[in-house]
Amino acid sequence: MENPGKPIIEVKDVWKTFLSGGTAFSALRGINLNVCTGELMAIMGASGSGKSTFMNMLGCLDRPTKGKYLFNGVDTTEKNNTELALIRRDNFGFVFQSYNLLPRTTSYENVELPLLYYGFKYGRAQRREMVMAALKQVGLEDKVYNKTNELSGGQQQRVAIARAIINNPKIIFADEPTGNLDTRTSFDIMAIVQGLNEKGTTVVIVTHEPDIADFTKRKVIFKDGQIISDEVNQQPKNAAQERQKLPELKEPEPAK
Ligand SMILES: Nc1ncnc2c1ncn2[C@@H]1O[C@H](COP(=O)(O)OP(=O)(O)OP(=O)(O)O)[C@@H](O)[C@H]1O
Ligand SMILES: [Mg+2]
Repeated sequence: MENPGKPIIEVKDVWKTFLSGGTAFSALRGINLNVCTGELMAIMGASGSGKSTFMNMLGCLDRPTKGKYLFNGVDTTEKNNTELALIRRDNFGFVFQSYNLLPRTTSYENVELPLLYYGFKYGRAQRREMVMAALKQVGLEDKVYNKTNELSGGQQQRVAIARAIINNPKIIFADEPTGNLDTRTSFDIMAIVQGLNEKGTTVVIVTHEPDIADFTKRKVIFKDGQIISDEVNQQPKNAAQERQKLPELKEPEPAK
């Protein structure tokens, strides 16, 4: 882990104001937040409180209207779009609620995609090795050549995680990664997320679900574009263990 304990994210008095139909609306209102290397943090709060707006800004997919966002000590607000794209490529992995996989495309091709943004850096054989390793890490070695529409929701989310980790990101930004999944599958996904964090990846995750936030080490709560609570979770639950405790769903006996 590089620079343990040092803030990798520094957000200083950030505002985001949208203009639509002639009216202004500020989705973020003076946010201050530091995130250190190695953290596993949950962002919670009601619908419309600004969570996704904030995550998009952290992931350099959008810019603040006012204030500063330093990533790894670099002021992103002074970077142009090309420079932001490089920051994303080299540092971030993204996981979204709706998976955002390419349709009619195999797991292999979806996971390989971020490597193609590096031009000739990785040859075909090296890409293959990396894709297979990432799919293995999320337990999908038996679905490598299945297309997106042939996968369950949980499997699609695991492909999305494999795609997010293929470039060995410093940070994973996950916006409601378990929002569409049943409890068992959600816990499986969180077990993967906790495993990545244990290996040193910083994780910021948006969730509505308190039992998902219980797997993180820090809970930040948004309300109306502001942070109203920021607490350390002293005893994060272990997702793999909690998953084991859930009884298997029983199917009805076939009629005789
Ligand atoms: N492009 C936009 N133009 C105008 N308003 C926007 C835009 N994007 C977001 N907003 C507004 O900003 C507020 C925060 O939106 P955001 O998507 O960040 O909420 P959220 O906390 O992620 O909610 P949810 O839990 O429903 O995903 C909302 O009131 C939304 O309508
Ligand atoms: Mg949202």
